[in-house]
Amino acid sequence: MTEPIEIRRIGPEGAAALHSVIAAAFGARPPLDPPADADSETVETVAAALEEYGGLVATSDGVPVAGLIFDRVADRVFLRRFGVVPAAQRSGIASRLVEEAVATATTIGLGEDGRDPLAAVAVVARAELPHSVRFWTRNGFRQVAGEPPYLQLERVVRLVLDTPDAASMRAFGGRLATVLRPGDLVVLTGELGAGKTTLTQGLGAGLGVRGDVTSPTFVIARVHPPLGDGPALVHADAYRLGGVAELDDLDLDTSLDDAVTVVEWGEGIAEGLASSRLDVRITRATGTTPPGIDGADPRRVVVVPIGARWRETDWSALG
Ligand SMILES: Nc1ncnc2c1ncn2[C@@H]1O[C@H](COP(=O)(O)OP(=O)(O)OP(=O)(O)O)[C@@H](O)[C@H]1O
Ligand SMILES: [Mg+2]
Repeated sequence: MTEPIEIRRIGPEGAAALHSVIAAAFGARPPLDPPADADSETVETVAAALEEYGGLVATSDGVPVAGLIFDRVADRVFLRRFGVVPAAQRSGIASRLVEEAVATATTIGLGEDGRDPLAAVAVVARAELPHSVRFWTRNGFRQVAGEPPYLQLERVVRLVLDTPDAASMRAFGGRLATVLRPGDLVVLTGELGAGKTTLTQGLGAGLGVRGDVTSPTFVIARVHPPLGDGPALVHADAYRLGGVAELDDLDLDTSLDDAVTVVEWGEGIAEGLASSRLDVRITRATGTTPPGIDGADPRRVVVVPIGARWRETDWSALG
């Protein structure tokens, strides 16, 4: 299709346009038992559903062809009534709408009412419609819960973990190693002594690489070769890069494509390295045990997967 497609955010004023999409898209599906609620939507019910968080409508030459409604529930944003009219299906519009929806969802309700930032974008799909389930899987959603015929699928936008002590930070690094593969970039940020190197030690142990992982004090980056047939670990300290040198230009004994690269303090420096990366932020947890009591010095770890690399990743191992 060559027509210009435009995706815009709508509120209740966009109800008529979105309702026309819902009627055409859901009307074209086979009858379901129990019937989908979408079948009984009216312009008024759609307007009411758009009241709180709005939705998206995609138009092709001004004609509405796809859309959805946002619905925030605790730390998740559900995409409701996601539909594409039959004439516009297989045009790539559905996947574009998903990307736009995920980007928009991350801004919905953030920081309001003291609520937690978003953890995941979720959808409910009908088990009787396997092509629909496959569509969500192709677009980075994984089945997490739900009772047939209702399946819940989610795409993780942010994982939060608490580590009470250094040993549990290392254990977390070990679990993180299980989701990484050659070519991956992990950017660790956190203040001095936050635990970036401690996490990397666990990662090195989990990957099974040679040498002790320590702060790369006198070298900008250290290569830990694999003991087995896994990837090498490249451990770099962007603080010492001074913010100018590029890791790519360093003469390392390995290609970054064959290694897992971890950059400490890489914010604003390492991002240019790869279009996909894992952002890991470590902060001293507050509101829990004061540091020092019983040796506890808890840290909060926030993992934000960025880019297409993580679409298929099963994050359940990190929990
Ligand atoms: N929950 C915890 N998680 C991580 N480290 C902890 C924790 N509790 C205590 N520690 C201790 O805090 C210190 C963290 O130091 P580490 O070198 O890992 O920090 P860093 O972020 O790499 O610092 P730098 O900015 O100097 O590179 C270690 O001595 C570790 O044993
Ligand atoms: Mg360090």
